[in-house]
Amino acid sequence: MDKYKNQFSLEGKVVVITGGGGLIGMKHAEAVMEGGGVPVLLDIIQAGMDRVVATLKEEYGQDRPVETFVTDITNKDALYKVRDELMDKYGHIDGLINNAANNPKVEGGSKNLAATKFPEFPVDIWNDDLAVGLTGAMLCCQVFGAVMEAQGKGAIINISSDYGIISPNQNIYRKEGVPEDQQIIKPVSYSVVKHGIMGLTKYLATYWGLKGVRVNTLCPASLLNGQDPEFVKKLSSLVPMGRMSNPDEYVGTVLYMLSDASSYMTGATVVLDGGRTIW
Ligand SMILES: NC(=O)c1ccc[n+]([C@@H]2O[C@H](COP(=O)([O-])OP(=O)(O)OC[C@H]3O[C@@H](n4cnc5c(N)ncnc54)[C@H](O)[C@@H]3O)[C@@H](O)[C@H]2O)c1
Repeated sequence: MDKYKNQFSLEGKVVVITGGGGLIGMKHAEAVMEGGGVPVLLDIIQAGMDRVVATLKEEYGQDRPVETFVTDITNKDALYKVRDELMDKYGHIDGLINNAANNPKVEGGSKNLAATKFPEFPVDIWNDDLAVGLTGAMLCCQVFGAVMEAQGKGAIINISSDYGIISPNQNIYRKEGVPEDQQIIKPVSYSVVKHGIMGLTKYLATYWGLKGVRVNTLCPASLLNGQDPEFVKKLSSLVPMGRMSNPDEYVGTVLYMLSDASSYMTGATVVLDGGRTIW
């Protein structure tokens, strides 16, 4: 009994989650807790991480460790400090989820989603989006991946999107009656970041192929998060399963990808999109 179930264990494993205070970061942390591991949240905003910690402690018990660091992942020295503190305390770092990105959300609060046509897309937003979504992920792989390489074992998940596979269908962001120059569009930087992260995965999966460090991409898609009903209807019509996703629907896959249950998987793209990218 439980011969294979035990492969999903993350008992005592230390897993760094960038953007750990955000919507999906919270779910990645739950996956680590479910497996018995220690989530390490990195975010530029303390309040988001506080919310996640409070929820995790309530769900899994006050005695379960959860680490938080207010850290900008584009700053390599700051990442070295996190690494050193974790190594002093635990002596190992076993996983990394490169989850932080400037996510242009239709539900609001994003600096990179606006009615800006491609020719006028500001280069400072482009630079910032690439810095967080690509450079930050690369730096985290350098700093934490090197520890895993030295240990001879580790698992890295790079978070992409269905927009790492297909181009955004800008029609679903359009609003009836809104003048053309005020229609919002998904920024080009998001497509480039989400395609680029797969290149990072493939490069490192081969680079560390013999070193015991597995590197894979997870593509979440179409997360429900209080979007307006018109948008939900339009997006759902593009999905073979006919609906958007619930943030809880990624947790089991993340546990699988971090644990020995996926021990022969590296360089892979795992797509959880209700079938959207095959249609
Ligand atoms: N929400 C979706 O529908 C969806 C769909 C597909 C893919 N994704 C991807 O999932 C990931 C998480 O998305 P989310 O919806 O949770 O976004 P989110 O905006 O809720 O969370 C992102 C977090 O990253 C943090 N962050 C930003 N810059 C940072 C930096 N320099 N250093 C450290 N942290 C930083 C933010 O403070 C925020 O807490 C992203 O990579 C996103 O592209 C999301």
